[in-house]
Amino acid sequence: MSERRDRAKDHWQAVALSADIAKRPKRILLDGSPLVLFRSAQGIAALFDRCPHRLVELSTGKVVGGEIECPYHGWRYDGEGRCTAIPGHVGAMPHYRVRRYAAIERDGIVFVSSGTPQGEPYLHCMQGKDIIVRRVRSSTQSTVIDVAENILDATHTHFTHKGLLRGLTSKRHLVRVEVTGGEGWVEARYTGEDRQQGLISRLLEGERTKTIGRFRHPGIAELEYWGKDGLVLATTFHLRQADDRTVEGVGWLIGRRQGLLGELKALAFKPLFTIALHQDRRVLKSASDNARFAPQALPVIGPLDFLRCDIAAIMEGKMPPAADEPRVHQIEL
Ligand code: FES
Ligand SMILES: [Fe+2]
Repeated sequence: MSERRDRAKDHWQAVALSADIAKRPKRILLDGSPLVLFRSAQGIAALFDRCPHRLVELSTGKVVGGEIECPYHGWRYDGEGRCTAIPGHVGAMPHYRVRRYAAIERDGIVFVSSGTPQGEPYLHCMQGKDIIVRRVRSSTQSTVIDVAENILDATHTHFTHKGLLRGLTSKRHLVRVEVTGGEGWVEARYTGEDRQQGLISRLLEGERTKTIGRFRHPGIAELEYWGKDGLVLATTFHLRQADDRTVEGVGWLIGRRQGLLGELKALAFKPLFTIALHQDRRVLKSASDNARFAPQALPVIGPLDFLRCDIAAIMEGKMPPAADEPRVHQIEL
């Protein structure tokens, strides 16, 4: 059991934007544990955010010469977590350490791991393609499963994002949804959608040929909007449970490179996306606050909640049901 749990920690987790870690250290929470991120002589470093001396938050100190200095008595720690200085002490240095976590930066995002991950982290669904990206981060009062499902759930857009992701009319079309999956992933593929009338689509998209919503282990949600000539817009969001009620996310907004037009669209994508994010955070917070009242209730898995059980299975390290039995649904979207 503990071996399985340990292996489950051997993945990279995206935790911050590179741009957030400049001169000052940054504290993040990873499954309830505080970590301090800072730039050491060897590159990005992640340590348990607690000085072993009197347990002060190292992240409230400063970075001096690539080492982190505790704000209380000035003990310093290098990127490996070794205590390198005790101001005022004369003689041999005792060997004190802070727990160190594996940390790397890829494409403007910082990844850490509480295990020993093999290989490179997964970044986004258009890795290696000729694209334009913007990076974003968010914090939501919710759980990873609820946020992931929300990102991938097409049916809430008529209500939560009316006018932005959907038109203002209540006109719907029969759409085909194919759900497939494999080890560590599940996706829903929507075809037969009409031209989209929401503001985002009208500004940024043409005809849509298909939409794909995908979940990947451990907490990655991605959406792809495809047109006649290939991918038009996409987003990959890496989510993590920071503490019991907070989900932190960092991700990429992705657009096709198409000269000046592509640049302009990419400029518009981020603020529009931010509005959608705000709308989602509002409903998710409402659900999170409201869930506390007695009697305790489990959410109903309705007939249109295609991915909920598969996401739950993947998060538990199990094979999603869709891997054995792909499903096809017809819905009005
Ligand atoms: S508490 Fe950190 S140096 Fe004393
Ligand atoms: Fe949404």
